[in-house]
Amino acid sequence: MAASAAALVLSTAFLAACGANDDGGDDGGDGGGGDGASGAKIALLLPESKTTRYETFDKPLFEAKVAELCEDCEVLYYNADQDEAKQAQQMTTALNDGANVVVLDPVNGAGATGMVEEAQGQDVPVIAYDRLITNADYYMSFDNETVGKLQGEGLLEAMGGEGAILMLNGAPSDPNAAQFKTGAHSALDGNVDILEEYDNPDWSPENAQQWTSDQLSKYDPSEIQGVYAANDGQAGGVVAALTGAGVALDALPPITGQDAEVAAIQRILAGEQALTIYKPIPIEAETAAEVAVALANGDEPGATSDTGIDQSEYEGVTSYIFDPIVVTADNVADTVIADGFYDAADICTGDYVDDCEAAGIS
Ligand code: GAL
Repeated sequence: MAASAAALVLSTAFLAACGANDDGGDDGGDGGGGDGASGAKIALLLPESKTTRYETFDKPLFEAKVAELCEDCEVLYYNADQDEAKQAQQMTTALNDGANVVVLDPVNGAGATGMVEEAQGQDVPVIAYDRLITNADYYMSFDNETVGKLQGEGLLEAMGGEGAILMLNGAPSDPNAAQFKTGAHSALDGNVDILEEYDNPDWSPENAQQWTSDQLSKYDPSEIQGVYAANDGQAGGVVAALTGAGVALDALPPITGQDAEVAAIQRILAGEQALTIYKPIPIEAETAAEVAVALANGDEPGATSDTGIDQSEYEGVTSYIFDPIVVTADNVADTVIADGFYDAADICTGDYVDDCEAAGIS
């Protein structure tokens, strides 16, 4: 896998700077609230746990990379379970516990500026992780508008360029959701008829299922030729609603998703979901760890040593932006499997063994 190979090429200068050969002396770095990475505390605050990525990928990948770069560093981890007030409390707790750097994936992007001020007021820099916070010191994410555009274009293609759809967007509090929505509309508007559109307040599969079921009391399933679901969790809710209303699995309309969750990859191979958007989370989590450790060490973060991804400006914040990848049945093997994001064994279970064989995955 690219990430593990790349891990070997980390520059020795970077490792030395991060305290891997620490002699206990002060390296003189005094920026960003850190007094050298030795013993530094790095807080990671993630937004929720219903989307599988956070606990399965973001947290462990971030922790592993911090441990690799800085053996004395400690990660303080919190998950807000989609509760803004809880996340604000977690920020205060992290600062009271001596966090030197905070990596924050906000439940509410606009509402998190106060949390950033609280940290910066104590000379603790904040990295906005995956979702933009306009006053953060750094930001990293995938190109979110492109995510939406790729979803919209993929849906259009799967529908043969026309038809009527339901549209399920993400949580309005999540700034990414607005970007996915803008990108999707840029591909869909004028080409399809959007029967109904929904902003799911918490991204949950349950809400997606309920809302879709409600629409099925107004529309016959045969009137729905496609469904734009902004993420895989919601796609799962849509499938449950449609099959619950009597639609056979092999008669589902094209449905989109995002996050390359195992269940979505299985649905894609089985012909029950048209596509997902794969965001190689190792790039994002490991970049966050690199930037966080550099800041804890009082260093100025630059291009990432693993991926060479350079800094750019996004909305006035120094940023690292990564490319999303469309996954359909045709390229599961060449993307999530080839990358080592999943082993074939993760996907090719039970009913999906035959689908895997048909797709050349073993
Ligand atoms: C977004 C994130 C996506 C996804 C979504 C919920 O902010 O970028 O990857 O996790 O939340 O599925």
